[in-house]
Amino acid sequence: MASTREESATCRPEDDVVPPKSKSKSIRRKDFISTLPTREGWSTPLVQYNKYWHRAQILNEILQVQDTFNPRSDDIIMVTQPKSGTTWLKALTFTITGRARLSFSDHPLLTRHPHQLVPFIEIPDHDHTSHARLLDTLPSPRLLATHLPLSSLLEMSPGRCSSRMIYLSRNPKDTLVSRWHFEHKVLQPEHRDFKMELEKAFTMFCEGVSECGPFWDHCLEYWMESLARPDKVMFLKYEEIKADPVQAVRNLAVFLDVPFSHEEETSGVPQEVVRICSFDTLTSLPVNQAGGVDHGTYYMPNSAFFRKGVAGDWANYMTKQMGENLDLIVKEKLQGSGLFF
Ligand code: A3P
Repeated sequence: MASTREESATCRPEDDVVPPKSKSKSIRRKDFISTLPTREGWSTPLVQYNKYWHRAQILNEILQVQDTFNPRSDDIIMVTQPKSGTTWLKALTFTITGRARLSFSDHPLLTRHPHQLVPFIEIPDHDHTSHARLLDTLPSPRLLATHLPLSSLLEMSPGRCSSRMIYLSRNPKDTLVSRWHFEHKVLQPEHRDFKMELEKAFTMFCEGVSECGPFWDHCLEYWMESLARPDKVMFLKYEEIKADPVQAVRNLAVFLDVPFSHEEETSGVPQEVVRICSFDTLTSLPVNQAGGVDHGTYYMPNSAFFRKGVAGDWANYMTKQMGENLDLIVKEKLQGSGLFF
């Protein structure tokens, strides 16, 4: 089913900013990014593009991928805000969809980081040209991931609407605390001594200034889309998967049109999927303990994607008052939508 941008339930920004179309593409992008509102504070400055905040390098890649990405109607796209459980969702979806051909005993997850198994649309491992080619060479149905807001995703290609999307959200307080830790793990030569107070991170997050933020707008776009098109957009919460991972895996399999058979249920396949994707299993594997990806201006250690993997850790870092303040902001922003955290 090919949907169009107009069919989407989500509101579009009224005054979209569009890069000018003269000069070479690369210079044009950089010039354009340099004109955007910028905020300092996180480990790299964030720039605001169509309401959302991005690292400048990532925005450069987003603008680049808009020209090169070729969507397919049967793509399966995992969407998150960073630190909402992207790594976990990639592992789960990869394992659920690949279970007919991959054995658990020598499963790719045992030797490869989940981010190596499911590429991001907008974040190349190395240089962008080969990344675009890599995405084109993947067999259908492709498993892809993105942190892009829905409005940006749709801008890239109206046809993308026909892809199935799984959106994983997470309690904003835990997302923020996870983000704050993560900022100190990404290695940047010029920011080796980077240090950010949690209070500063909290203030910026509450203002909506965090990577891919405002937090609430990102969630809300996909939430509304999931209400309008539940067969195409599945909206999940990290805490719900944590509470009953086996049921979450069953629901995911149904959404992906690969439900567990009676035989699979009897032999405990859903439980095995949960086990191999669990925080304990993944963190016990050498591939997730060492190594990383050099993105040029920053180095991303594989281990940075695993910290505690629990719900409610925010209470160990934020005061009760901070928690209540953030809850109130998010509640007001989501009011009337039926979405809550
Ligand atoms: P914490 O920092 O709270 O521990 P992302 O993958 O979007 O970058 O999110 C990272 C967060 O997900 C981290 O949260 C990380 O520990 C957690 N995580 C990673 N793998 C997980 C898993 N298999 N199960 C549960 N949580 C996981």
